[in-house]
Amino acid sequence: MFVVFKLLVVLCVLAVAGAVLPAPPSPAKYGTLSFNQTGNVTRVTFDHPPINLVDAELTSDLLDFLNDLIPTNRTTPPPKVVIFDSANPDFFLGHIDVRSIQLPITEADTAFTINYLAVANLFNSITSTIFIAEINGEAFGAGQELTVQMDMRFAGPNTRTGSFENALGLVAGGGGQLFLGTLLNRGLALEYLLAVKTFDGPTGTRLGLFNNDFDTAEDQRTYVDALAARIGLFPANGLNETKAALSFRNPTLEALNTDVEGFYGLDGLAAQQANVAKLIALSDNQTKTPFELGLGESILELYQ
Ligand SMILES: *[C@@H]1O[C@H](CO)[C@@H](O)[C@H](O)[C@H]1NC(C)=O
Ligand SMILES: *[C@@H]1O[C@H](CO)[C@@H](O)[C@H](O)[C@H]1NC(C)=O
Ligand SMILES: *[C@@H]1O[C@H](CO)[C@@H](O)[C@H](O)[C@H]1NC(C)=O
Ligand SMILES: *[C@@H]1O[C@H](CO)[C@@H](O)[C@H](O)[C@H]1NC(C)=O
Ligand SMILES: *[C@@H]1O[C@H](CO)[C@@H](O)[C@H](O)[C@H]1NC(C)=O
Repeated sequence: MFVVFKLLVVLCVLAVAGAVLPAPPSPAKYGTLSFNQTGNVTRVTFDHPPINLVDAELTSDLLDFLNDLIPTNRTTPPPKVVIFDSANPDFFLGHIDVRSIQLPITEADTAFTINYLAVANLFNSITSTIFIAEINGEAFGAGQELTVQMDMRFAGPNTRTGSFENALGLVAGGGGQLFLGTLLNRGLALEYLLAVKTFDGPTGTRLGLFNNDFDTAEDQRTYVDALAARIGLFPANGLNETKAALSFRNPTLEALNTDVEGFYGLDGLAAQQANVAKLIALSDNQTKTPFELGLGESILELYQ
């Protein structure tokens, strides 16, 4: 009798604990993301060799994952914190698959762009989850554009990020330049955007782009795990209210739409298309070449 009672107590405790914890995400359709769920924190690892290119597959996986965080799409509470990291020490996230912006723009290209913009928007419109970028390695172009739209950024020793779009004659038109403008002062945002300059860990921290930077990836991970677990202790409704309140600092939907239009106003021009073709050639079709590994500076090869 006593054993049965003890068993019931254990089952009840498990049921209560189980009821409040988020269910782990389903495996990513294209396998470009892997997941590790610990309590109220989900760690998402970008794993899309060779350079974590932000292409249709990675974008589709990200969109599925983010859509599933929307509270009304779930039967369990969403994770309070999501940490993004990379399986590749050289690349946190790549740039966009630039073949998608080469003329002619196909239906598949348009579908990809729509998904990409939806992903960027969800980092902000989902206020019930806090998104942390645990950056190590490169994040240029789309990689930078997505991380500036997350809620916090922590930089590891190999971090090099930036928007290189102006070197192509384009703009970081998916929110990248607008969000950078909310994180840095206007002069600094313009310096880094217009001159296509690179943020390393210490520089990004000094300017307020990164919350902090670390000498080792281990120290970085230990810090981010502890921070996320600490946030994960607190009631979800309060966390949601705080993230939602700070949304007043985000660019308006109108400004974001103007940004996308600005991009497409430039993309079809001959000089821009020539630069994109040159980028594909110099990077050996967007693979792990010295060009991609040093993108922040090698992009100047377009002008040699
Ligand atoms: C998942 O994350 C936890 C907490 O950081 C860690 O202890 C564990 O080793 C991770 N599991 C895998 C499979 O990476
Ligand atoms: C989740 O909800 C959004 C809008 O509420 C919807 O567009 C999306 O398709 C849903 N996703 C899933 C996987 O149910
Ligand atoms: C997860 O969140 C729930 C609901 O706020 C809370 O009861 C629980 O203690 C949290 N668990 C951890 C490990 O932080
Ligand atoms: C989060 O807070 C916002 C602003 O108060 C509110 O509109 C929204 O319903 C909240 N979401 C959740 C899941 O509590
Ligand atoms: C470039 O790489 C993609 C895969 O990312 C491949 O589908 C395409 O055929 C390649 N193009 C050339 C010209 O090698």
